[in-house]
Amino acid sequence: MLIVANWKAYVETPAKAKALLASAKRLSVGKAKREIALAPAYPYIGLLAGTRAKVKLAAQDVGLSESGAHTGEVSAGALTGLGVSYAIIGHSERRAAGEDDEVIARKVAHALASKLTPVLCIGETERDPDAAYLKRIREQLRTALTPLTGAERAQVVIAYEPVWAIGKSGDEAITPADLAEMIAYVRKLLEDFMPGRAGDRVRILYGGSVDAGNARALSTDTGIDGLLVGRASTDVTAFSALVRAL
Ligand code: PGA
Repeated sequence: MLIVANWKAYVETPAKAKALLASAKRLSVGKAKREIALAPAYPYIGLLAGTRAKVKLAAQDVGLSESGAHTGEVSAGALTGLGVSYAIIGHSERRAAGEDDEVIARKVAHALASKLTPVLCIGETERDPDAAYLKRIREQLRTALTPLTGAERAQVVIAYEPVWAIGKSGDEAITPADLAEMIAYVRKLLEDFMPGRAGDRVRILYGGSVDAGNARALSTDTGIDGLLVGRASTDVTAFSALVRAL
């Protein structure tokens, strides 16, 4: 089970970042099947990079291109050079800030070229009665995966995050039954992009108002391989309770 802790901009001091790291380390000890990846804001990546045995690092985004004259961009190579394993790409909060499917596709390709594993976020903003949102999800996947080779596609981690479920209270998350349906749908879509059973090995995470109260139900028999946790990952007590509940 992969648990990606998306700190967003919640963590405002280095001391808090270090406390969260120390707690994540304790949660990882002796748990071979549990992989925790912390996704801090960029400055904290440098701070945590040298001190994080057993805990992986993720970026919350990545730039569009390799090193060069790109003021304000962070290249995938700069991240992997610090030992960062994953980059969240296409989060709905980045999409809301203007990133479209094409930009996200370029970021995914750029990350993979530098051996940074993309955590590609997909998800509908709302559910309409005609289920047009299912087509939107297919489109998000298609644009990101089509430019990649088969081997690259198999490395992408997918995070299904219905936007309507992000940043709410735990009882407003998706229901386990609806989640199971959506994960089955996403797996089916993956068959179109990966021949044979290659898509079966792709890890699919769920994100959206996961907390200690719903984490276990959401990850039991729903077909997910992990969680992308926002707010509940930015408090030592709440995150420990969530991980222990799994
Ligand atoms: P949340 O955020 O857990 O605070 O809903 C999840 C996300 O946006 O990745």
